[in-house]
Amino acid sequence: MNILAICGSLRARSTNLAVLEAAKLLAPADMQITIFGGLAALPHFNPDLDTEDPPETVRSLREAIGRADGLIICSPEYARGVAGVTKNALDWLVSSFEFPAKPIAVINASQRSTHADAALRLTLETMSARLIKEASITMPLLGRGLDAAGIAADEELSTQLRQALAQVQHVVAAPTDAPRHSPI
Ligand SMILES: Cc1cc2nc3c(=O)[nH]c(=O)nc-3n(C[C@H](O)[C@H](O)[C@H](O)COP(=O)(O)O)c2cc1C
Repeated sequence: MNILAICGSLRARSTNLAVLEAAKLLAPADMQITIFGGLAALPHFNPDLDTEDPPETVRSLREAIGRADGLIICSPEYARGVAGVTKNALDWLVSSFEFPAKPIAVINASQRSTHADAALRLTLETMSARLIKEASITMPLLGRGLDAAGIAADEELSTQLRQALAQVQHVVAAPTDAPRHSPI
């Protein structure tokens, strides 16, 4: 299964990026995680440009989401809000047909960042995403300064991340057209 990962921090030594790179190291054998590399190049969202022929970078984001079976978003909190990079990308996806119902795990890399986590979940819910609650976790990485290898080597953190990835795998692999209730 193909999972597209979106990192809301553009910092080279980003903790959020380290989480996603650790996820690549810890992913189950049948899960390929690709970190979307084009976020910094997205233009600022402008409804006037959100036409049948959107900017190329927007098209490539939407196509990458279309190819993905699920998404992981890992994004920092800035000034008690969602990082602008992440919100900008989501704004470009509001009108896309690829995004609604896509299973998504939100991984919060800081135990202090409660506001952005809540706001991001609200935005995703508003956009009809399928939030995988069991896979949407907060990892206590604030102040740890760990890179991907350090996260993967830590027993507690790697177990937490592995369990979240297993939940993503479970939800993505499950048939979606099965009846939720017994027809009788
Ligand atoms: C301008 C700025 C504002 C921030 N505001 C908050 C905040 O309101 N709440 C919080 O918990 N952390 C805040 N932080 C800390 C970042 O969320 C934290 O450093 C995070 O690890 C950054 O992610 P990164 O390591 O992936 O770049 C802020 C950091 C910066 C640079």
